[in-house]
Amino acid sequence: LQQEALGKIEVANELKMLNDIRVEYLGKKGPITEVLKGMGKLSAEERPLIGAIANEVRGAIQEKLETKMADVERAAIEKKLEAEAIDVTLPGRPVAVGNHHPLTAVVEKIEDFFLGLGFEIVEGPEVEKDYYNFEALNLPKGHPARDMQDTFYITEDMLLRTHTSSVQARTMELEKGKPIKIICPGKVYRRDDDDATHSHQFMQTEGLVIEEITDENIGMSNLKGILDAFAKEMFGEDREIRLRPSFFPFTEPSVEIDTSCMKCGGCGCNICKGTGWIEILGAGMVHPNVLEMAGYDPKKYRGYAFGIGQERIAMLAYGVDDIRHFYTNDVRFLQQFKQL
Ligand code: PHE
Repeated sequence: LQQEALGKIEVANELKMLNDIRVEYLGKKGPITEVLKGMGKLSAEERPLIGAIANEVRGAIQEKLETKMADVERAAIEKKLEAEAIDVTLPGRPVAVGNHHPLTAVVEKIEDFFLGLGFEIVEGPEVEKDYYNFEALNLPKGHPARDMQDTFYITEDMLLRTHTSSVQARTMELEKGKPIKIICPGKVYRRDDDDATHSHQFMQTEGLVIEEITDENIGMSNLKGILDAFAKEMFGEDREIRLRPSFFPFTEPSVEIDTSCMKCGGCGCNICKGTGWIEILGAGMVHPNVLEMAGYDPKKYRGYAFGIGQERIAMLAYGVDDIRHFYTNDVRFLQQFKQL
């Protein structure tokens, strides 16, 4: 019996099999229990003899079972460890590295350019008073030019700003009679239907310079010089600019500024539609009414202002054909700007 049990234990290679063997030989219905149960029927001489043999057999089987179980358990752990082993020589999975959003890159480039010329950055609220967005900029209630910049109204007197000129109006009121040299970047809103070139929300960087009038300081020529350098910085050294007469209620005279086309350089192509020129921004000399309303004496102070649409600059600089690409966060679009 002992030989038979030990033989079975020897070949068993799973815990379950070993357990079955234990039940079979050492369990309540097993042969050894049977023998021990039948001890009462034996004679006094046989009893210790048989008892000793039964105990010895039981002990041997038990011992063998225990060592085998420990072996099987150890083998299982080893197998598991082997399966979970980490191959430190395998190349790792690359982590996707993000990059600057093209608009962020353009904003930073614009800011760097003007900071280098001594401008300061000023920000203001997107939810704005009608007064700073329109009235202080020579656009009284009912002025027909308000139509050009229809917006979203919160109340009769509160609206989403249509340009960051509102920040310029605030700064002028705050500085009252002191020179100013600022740019105002930020989000603005218009009641426009979204399409490839229009968005109900976009971004601007507007600039304002105000100085006391002396013989030789700021005039249109300063404005032209700065914006010429700006166009070269953003689109390339060989860019020219041209000024076209225009109208803004807050500047007089007002101009729109074009840059020579970055593709054809002036001979005509599909981007500039054969004209050789592309409009990039609006600008002008600050209107005397605007100066006066903010507490500047127009006889003593003079200034110029300009308004840059960041999306427009980004579209021209990077050849993006639909403004909506900037807002939909498609990584296939964004990944193309890794070099920025
Ligand atoms: N505020 C004007 C706009 O948003 C741009 C502009 C700014 C024009 C300053 C002239 C001077 O359209």
